[in-house]
Amino acid sequence: MKGEVETGLENVVALESSITFIDGEKGILQYRGYDVEKLANLTYDEVSYLLIHGKNPEDEELEAYSRTLKDERRIGSTLIEVLGFCNFNIEAMDALKTITSLMSHCDPDLNTNNPQANTRKGMRMIAKFPTIVTSFSRLKRGMNVIEPDYEMSHGANFLYMLRGSRPTNLEARIIESDFILSADHELNPSTFAARTVTSTLSDLHSAVIGGLCTLKGPLHGGARMAVMNMLDEIDSPKGAQNFVLHKIEKHEKLMGFGHRVYKTYDPRARVYKQLAREIAMEKNDMKWFEIAEKIEGAAYEEYVQNRGKPIYPNVDFYSGVVYKYLDIPPKLATAVFATGRISGWIAHCLEQYSDNRLIRPRAKFV
Ligand code: ACO
Repeated sequence: MKGEVETGLENVVALESSITFIDGEKGILQYRGYDVEKLANLTYDEVSYLLIHGKNPEDEELEAYSRTLKDERRIGSTLIEVLGFCNFNIEAMDALKTITSLMSHCDPDLNTNNPQANTRKGMRMIAKFPTIVTSFSRLKRGMNVIEPDYEMSHGANFLYMLRGSRPTNLEARIIESDFILSADHELNPSTFAARTVTSTLSDLHSAVIGGLCTLKGPLHGGARMAVMNMLDEIDSPKGAQNFVLHKIEKHEKLMGFGHRVYKTYDPRARVYKQLAREIAMEKNDMKWFEIAEKIEGAAYEEYVQNRGKPIYPNVDFYSGVVYKYLDIPPKLATAVFATGRISGWIAHCLEQYSDNRLIRPRAKFV
């Protein structure tokens, strides 16, 4: 076999896609040709539609899309009962993967694999993920499960089901932006895993479970939980510099920093930083934001000093700070990420089915 091995498939172009564009040198991220910074101000339903259908919805198309998602929010007593059997020490992500698997058994389009059926299955998962994640969180806390509200936006309803009370307007807008900023990122590991499962012509639920299992790891979406734990551990802006130095001395990774593709500031991190500042100000509590800014500053300085080049925050850093202010428990963080990412996975799986070739790379035998 010819050719050198690109470890971790770095810079390997595996397929063509018309969903997401990234310029890692300039820090540009676009879904279907639109900058993510601008999309972050829309509703999740609009961006989800754009990702899945490849175009902006007309008013009546958006209305029908949102109505279907709202009507599909409920998960039913069997799934809630099974959530109650889950080990409450696990991350919500593990419960989400169990319930996604079980959901496939009850799906009306079970055993049908065509574009219309797959779009319906995908929309059911998009609609039900918030209900699964929040129901698990409430059962874990010994609380009653809250039925979805059929009028609130995707994000506002998520916070409502998590807490049992309506979020403020700012909180609702911020969680909506969070879901949008998390919705897609080209061939990230979980999307590649989902597309690989799809390429075998397996079913959509299996592909999404592949994505969930991959997102969970701390080098990918699991970093968001690690960032929240890091903020708790540091606990005061004064502790940030030493924490960073200690990481450098021990040759340990700083969670929420670095990226395979971005060689500069992750554009999503910039938006999340602004959201974190806004929510900190609304709550009149700058503590977590100030710790985060100190970590960012120390990381920049110390990595330049010690390693000759800076490291920048990625999507998981300031999103972790935002989650602290939204009272999202750390063990829920990756599942909340998945609640946004599900639209991207569905869009990619539909694209893969539409022009499929089995994904099957080679290994160099040594
Ligand atoms: N802390 C310290 N150093 C880092 C970090 C970090 N977070 N990230 C990269 N580096 C350094 C490495 O030590 C290495 O330095 P060297 O060239 O002197 O040996 C260099 O940057 C390249 O690092 P790799 O780990 O080889 O880069 P890779 O592209 O394989 O990894 C990854 C990318 C996994 C995201 C890495 O930056 C990391 O582990 N970050 C922390 C975990 C994290 O935040 N993950 C979330 C990523 S975003 C997402 O998936 C949703």
